[in-house]
Amino acid sequence: MVRVLLVKNIVILISGRGSNFEAILRTSREENWEVACGARIAAVVSNRPDALGLQTAQRNGIATHVVDHKAFDSREAFDAELARVVESYQPDVVVLAGFMRILTAGFVSRFEGKLLNIHPAILPLFPGLDTHRRAIEAGCRVHGSTVHFVSQVLDGGAIVGQAIVPVLPSDTPETLAHRGLVYEHMLYPRCVRALVEGKVRLENGRCVADDAVSRELTIFGD
Ligand code: GRF
Repeated sequence: MVRVLLVKNIVILISGRGSNFEAILRTSREENWEVACGARIAAVVSNRPDALGLQTAQRNGIATHVVDHKAFDSREAFDAELARVVESYQPDVVVLAGFMRILTAGFVSRFEGKLLNIHPAILPLFPGLDTHRRAIEAGCRVHGSTVHFVSQVLDGGAIVGQAIVPVLPSDTPETLAHRGLVYEHMLYPRCVRALVEGKVRLENGRCVADDAVSRELTIFGD
């Protein structure tokens, strides 16, 4: 009997430095995902040709693509090409890692249940931009990051995991962002692996997981 092992493909979308992509790559190697859960990072796609993360991908032998949003007349045309490139890898998981474009409803519904984003706030607090400054100005004692399924509502999809850090009186948006990023880099790989392994799933607009998995995807940082 011939056993066909189907590799699960992860496609990562970036726009910039790609530190979350790097964290996922590092973890996937340390934990040997190809063997442990049959998954590999198949490609990294950027909407900006100068995204630093592209170089990281190339150095690590991962396929890269640039779909430059400036080359398209409309959001729909850009998303259609982006979807074509992503779809060519038959992805099981599509990871937005610092991808700074708002995706059309068509793109989001095409990859529904497979599409993750990381947002630097404890959602549903502070959707949108400038989250660190807003958390400090609001006098929050905690801040953090959220991995969520992407839905039609900006930063509004079902929550998969959260990492929480304290906000200190001496914090600036920069120091707070830095503190949070350390834990993003723990959180995102865990969430991606959990989705690859089917330990979390999207059901009727909510993220379903058992208690043990849910605990693993809740990180309290310091
Ligand atoms: C992170 O802070 C993430 O929360 C937000 O964009 C930033 C991306 O950083 N979505 P990087 O490109 O992964 O380094």
